[in-house]
Amino acid sequence: MSPREGVPLAPFTTFHIGGSARVFIEATTEEEVRAACGEATRRALPLYPLGAGSNVLVRDEGVEGVVLKVGLRDCTLIDDGGDTLLVAGAGLLWDEVVDRAAAQGIFGIENLAGIPGTVGGAAVQNIGAYGAEFSNVFSYADTIESTTGEHARIERADAAFGYRTSFFKTHRTHVIERVALRLAKTAQPNLAYADLARAQAESIPLTTPQEIARAIRAIRAEKFPHAAEEGSAGSFFKNPVIPREHAAMLSARYPGLPVFPHEDGAAKVSLAWILDHALSLKGFSLGPVRLYEKQPLVIVAREGARAQDIDALAREVEARVRRATGIAIEREVETFG
Ligand code: EPU
Repeated sequence: MSPREGVPLAPFTTFHIGGSARVFIEATTEEEVRAACGEATRRALPLYPLGAGSNVLVRDEGVEGVVLKVGLRDCTLIDDGGDTLLVAGAGLLWDEVVDRAAAQGIFGIENLAGIPGTVGGAAVQNIGAYGAEFSNVFSYADTIESTTGEHARIERADAAFGYRTSFFKTHRTHVIERVALRLAKTAQPNLAYADLARAQAESIPLTTPQEIARAIRAIRAEKFPHAAEEGSAGSFFKNPVIPREHAAMLSARYPGLPVFPHEDGAAKVSLAWILDHALSLKGFSLGPVRLYEKQPLVIVAREGARAQDIDALAREVEARVRRATGIAIEREVETFG
């Protein structure tokens, strides 16, 4: 763990964009994570834990803080009666964990196949896709509180998961070291989601977790840009959660708008649909960045694009959605710096 100064962050992000970190530390042991936290405290700089950089936008001016790449990458499977407990280091790639579980024939995360990012990022964001959500399998996370250096175990009941949020997102001083997932040994396929139902109708095999993961990766490959070809960070915006009356008003104005019941009398509406059908913004571009043609929640950046270009496009989209629907949309991608 040697702190390095002025390290360009663009290569550590899937947007391939952004300035340098004042201090950059890669920590591969718990001791190094703790030392990195101490370094930030000693220098009185904010700490920015970084996973695979797949959900961050680093400002062009860089980050006046300590960027900590957590490189804990162990993975253990523990037999626990009817279940299997999978304990994984925060720095392991999420999709490798999906593969590991699927290879053992255990269920619970196969629908989350193909999502970029690390195990730590999956917990912070409470990733969700194709009818599954990280929170459904979460058991506990071991963290280190960066200002005190103390270890804590955050149990499921305290993890405060919501739509793309968690305790870890709202308490950024807790750096995740390891996450434990409770997975099932018996088949529990979840094929209700439209794209999967379609795959099933086409007789694509969907029995084992490996088959399901393979099908999901194929669906995603159709919908999302290829990381190697263009910069992106998955869905840039969240689907808006609004009062049901507001959603009903929008449904009347825009027949066909997908509306999903949410907790506490709220409704979640499809922003991709609004951008596509209500605003015709698929492929909408400003300079070197645009809304992806096949999934307009995704912003794609051509080589040479800057964070300010992405910000300008995002602001324009935010303004247009607000004018047309009265919704103040929120960003899913986190800004560093
Ligand atoms: N739609 C359109 N036009 C389009 C694309 C989609 O009208 O160009 C409609 C679809 O017909 C569908 C609706 O919009 O009725 C929703 O689209 P989709 O199924 O692609 O899912 P999403 O709500 O846009 C969410 C997550 C994704 C996740 C998918 C699949 C958010 C912000 N995004 O997208 O997660 O992969 O569901 O479950 O919740 C991510 O968070 O980075 C991410 C990729």
